[in-house]
Amino acid sequence: MISIRSQREIALMRQAGHINYLTHQELKKHIKAGITTGELNDIADKFMRKLGGKPSCLNYEGYPKSICISINDEVVHGIPGNRKLKNGDIVSIDFCVEYKGYQSDATITHIVGSVSKEVEDLVINTEKSLYIGINEVKPGAKVSAIGKAIEDYATKCGLGVVRELVGHGLGTSIHEDPDVPNYYTNMPTVLKEGMVIAIEPMLTLGKRYVYLKDDNWTVATDDGLPAAHFEHTVLVTKDGYEILTGE
Ligand code: MF3
Ligand code: CO
Repeated sequence: MISIRSQREIALMRQAGHINYLTHQELKKHIKAGITTGELNDIADKFMRKLGGKPSCLNYEGYPKSICISINDEVVHGIPGNRKLKNGDIVSIDFCVEYKGYQSDATITHIVGSVSKEVEDLVINTEKSLYIGINEVKPGAKVSAIGKAIEDYATKCGLGVVRELVGHGLGTSIHEDPDVPNYYTNMPTVLKEGMVIAIEPMLTLGKRYVYLKDDNWTVATDDGLPAAHFEHTVLVTKDGYEILTGE
C-alpha cells in the first residue's frame, strides 16, 4: 500500500527533511583526514537531537549506530567506529531523521582531499544521476521511469548500477512501498500527488556486484572498486516534485 500524505503530514516530513539537510551540512565541516567515523556519528547524533530530530537508523532492525558511513568499496550501511578518514577516500554518509513520527532519508558522498579523475567523475556522475531520476517525478509518471533514467545515464558514463538495494517510499516508517529501483523494470506503479519516496542511486566504478561483510551490515563491491551513493527524500507535488532534504 502506498500512502498519500495529508498537508499536516507533509509539513512534518518537511521538518524531518530539513533537520536531515542541516545535519548533513554540519557533518560536511568535519569531513577531514584524521577524523574517525565514530566521531562523525556522535556529531550527527547530537546535532539532530538538538534540532528536535531522532536518529531513526539507531536500533533499526538492530543497527547499532545513528548514521551509516561507507568508505571507498563500501556501498551502504557501513558501521561507524575507530576507522579514520584519509586523503583519497570517498565517504558516503547516509541517515534517517525522525521528527514527530515522520521520517526523512538522505545520503551524500564526500571526497576527502583529492582523488583520481575517474573517482571524482564517479562521485559527480552519481549525484547527477540522482537529479536525473528526480526530474522524472510527477503525478502520472511511472516509478519505473526513475530507474530507467538513472540506469541510462549510469550506462552512458560506464558505471555499474547496484541492484540489490533500491529506493523506497517513506513516511511513518523508513521503508514503505513502493520500491524505487535504480534500473529499468516493468513495474506498473504510477506516482500520485502526496506520495513521498527516497531516490538513491548507488553507482560503481567497476562491476555492479556486491556482497555482505562479516559484520552483517556493510555492503561492499565484489571487485573492491569504489562506489558512490546520493539520496534525497522527494514529495510528489501537483506539477512535479519537492525535494524535502534539499537546501
Ligand atoms: N538510509 C538507509 C536505508 O535506506 C539506512 C536505513 S537505517 C539502517 O537503507 F539501520 F539500515 F542503517
Ligand atoms: Co534510503
